[in-house]
Amino acid sequence: MGRDNYFIRQFGAPSGGLGIFLAKIMNLSNKRMYKANSVRLEGRKRILEIGYGNGKQLQIIRAMYPDMSLYGVDISEEMHGTASKALGDSALLSVGDAGDLPYQSSFFDAVITTDTCYFWNDPRKVLSEIRRVMKDDGIFINTFNTMYADSVRKTRMDECIFDLNTTVASAGICGLELVSHRETGKFEEQIILRKKI
Ligand SMILES: C[S@@+](CC[C@H](N)C(=O)[O-])C[C@H]1O[C@@H](n2cnc3c(N)ncnc32)[C@H](O)[C@@H]1O
Repeated sequence: MGRDNYFIRQFGAPSGGLGIFLAKIMNLSNKRMYKANSVRLEGRKRILEIGYGNGKQLQIIRAMYPDMSLYGVDISEEMHGTASKALGDSALLSVGDAGDLPYQSSFFDAVITTDTCYFWNDPRKVLSEIRRVMKDDGIFINTFNTMYADSVRKTRMDECIFDLNTTVASAGICGLELVSHRETGKFEEQIILRKKI
């Protein structure tokens, strides 16, 4: 496995001291995306973040909306430890795979994820799980870095969501439809989906 793949694996599941350091780098590079997601949550009560990393986005949401119930799931034990320290009891954080969400159906008003969709091993399984845990009037906000998505995609032979077309195609199969799509910055995109009822 080459150097690029090692780093991509680290971004996909940060571990050890390097993982903690890379999470801080992500905080700088993903700043605009955190903000773009947070402003779309106004009026929503119960939020799930998939792939919370070191918890920066949840901290921003907590500061903006003190009364929201915040949940998170991340596959990395390291990130769970780091984010738990940062967030204390202001969010309910789990370690787990987005393809098997540890929540009851129709539970969340919004599900968000930043810079993670290209790492999911089975995107349709994840999208189906997101649909299951969303309320009927809920939204799913997927925000990602297009340059980085392209690098991750090149390391993969299987199905992967990395742009508008691949996201909408997979989401459609899983019973989700497009609400909006916009650029949040250079090389950054935000896709909002809802349940097809
Ligand atoms: C590039 S980092 C982004 C972290 C955070 N969202 C941010 O923007 O700062 C990707 C995160 O997604 C998590 N992740 C990757 N695949 C996952 C999966 N299948 N289920 C849950 N979390 C996952 C990783 O552990 C990592 O924390």
